[in-house]
Amino acid sequence: MRRSYIAGNWKMNKTVKEAVTLATELKEAGSSKNKIMIAPPFTALSAVSEVLKGTEIILGAQNMAIAESGAHTGEISVLMLKDLNVDTVILGHSERRHIYGETDEVINKKINLALTHKLEVILCVGETLEERESGKAESVVTKQLVEGLKGVKSGNLPSITIAYEPVWAIGTGKTATPADANAIHKVIRKKITELYGEKEAEAIIIQYGGSVKPGNVTDLMAESDIDGALVGGAALKAETFIPIMNYNK
Ligand code: PGA
Repeated sequence: MRRSYIAGNWKMNKTVKEAVTLATELKEAGSSKNKIMIAPPFTALSAVSEVLKGTEIILGAQNMAIAESGAHTGEISVLMLKDLNVDTVILGHSERRHIYGETDEVINKKINLALTHKLEVILCVGETLEERESGKAESVVTKQLVEGLKGVKSGNLPSITIAYEPVWAIGTGKTATPADANAIHKVIRKKITELYGEKEAEAIIIQYGGSVKPGNVTDLMAESDIDGALVGGAALKAETFIPIMNYNK
């Protein structure tokens, strides 16, 4: 049985004070059956890390630099994240791919660097509306998956979560139907079987992301291959994130 994994991606929202307030509310909600992670903006990581001490909520970052240190103005290194007790990092989010031009190659380098430093990774994959409508959803997602995982040894696979996030469903209020999402999740799991083997594919957590809300989480999570959610908008308020965190309580 795979343990469900619910992650909140706060994106470019929340001052330090607001972040501490939300993290405190989540902490006070008590423990969940599910694995829970929140990814505040970089500026709030330190303060939120203090709030989360002694809880089961995992601290995540939303991105990371391609190198450990040096001349990379404006970037944040894996060593700095480790220094703030960050456990996991979201890589390849569609906003990084589409707004900031991150390629599969860049994302792959970041993934291997994160793993070297024992950070867990959520690798995001997903097709645009145009790609879906032209029947390319499966091939786009498969390519992002295969390129993203280049050089990742099977021993490191337990540190990787895949998040399937159809770009057309992110922040738009349009959710993939549970069945449509599950179909792509199955494609992902099959590819993991080909790349690593059946045991590894059975164990890997594949999250769905894209307009997940308290009202649709239960139906999405009921699908055979959907093992959790990566939540954006609804992660910004305790009143919407707590019911998602505890959808199966
Ligand atoms: P959303 O974002 O829940 O606001 O659609 C999801 C994401 O980008 O991870």
